[in-house]
Amino acid sequence: MGPAPAANLTRHTLQPRENRWACLGQRPAIAWFTGLSGAGKSSIANAVDRALTAEGRPTMVLDGDNLRLGLNRDLGFSARDRAENIRRAAETARLMAETGLITIVSLISPFRAERAAAREIAGDIPFLEIFIDTPLAVCEARDPKGLYDRARAGAIPDFTGISAPYEAPEAPDLTITTQNCTVEESAGALIPALLRLSAPA
Ligand code: ADX
Repeated sequence: MGPAPAANLTRHTLQPRENRWACLGQRPAIAWFTGLSGAGKSSIANAVDRALTAEGRPTMVLDGDNLRLGLNRDLGFSARDRAENIRRAAETARLMAETGLITIVSLISPFRAERAAAREIAGDIPFLEIFIDTPLAVCEARDPKGLYDRARAGAIPDFTGISAPYEAPEAPDLTITTQNCTVEESAGALIPALLRLSAPA
């Protein structure tokens, strides 16, 4: 069974999304984290998420590893599967943002074209591309999951930074460095930016 032709589908009109946003007392935003494995994306995403929750702001985090254990469990790490991984995450982020949540997405998302596609999918929802800028050598030295070791030994094919490419953003909305600073310091600038962006109209 293939997909239904778009001509056989009708988009239904829902109540204005502003009604939902008013219930939550904020406007949504998507913060899209990109960076190498081990760069610190998940740690910073969690710190930002907790800080926003502490401010009473409704949020959600979409993390690559977590999505790959559920929604994206059928996907691997070929360029094609990564593109589909990112498309699904972007569509999910859009749905969450439509409900009014500040949505933090944490995926390697190594290709510029797919990150641009994610921004397109976000439509008119404010979308911040956040580059977690940790050099490969630092990620490899940290190797929190032991994956670089295994990738260097040839045990993990298509490993980003080792045997698969990572295209750093050319014009990210924010660059976060993680060397010689705590997670809280790295998360620092983004928290007020998201609070401002999501302040009720
Ligand atoms: S993405 O490239 O498609 O955006 P995603 O962020 O979902 O990647 O998943 C990356 C995580 O999967 C890494 O943090 C790591 O734990 C794990 N992983 C397993 N195999 C690979 C691989 N070949 N390349 C990169 N990450 C991998």
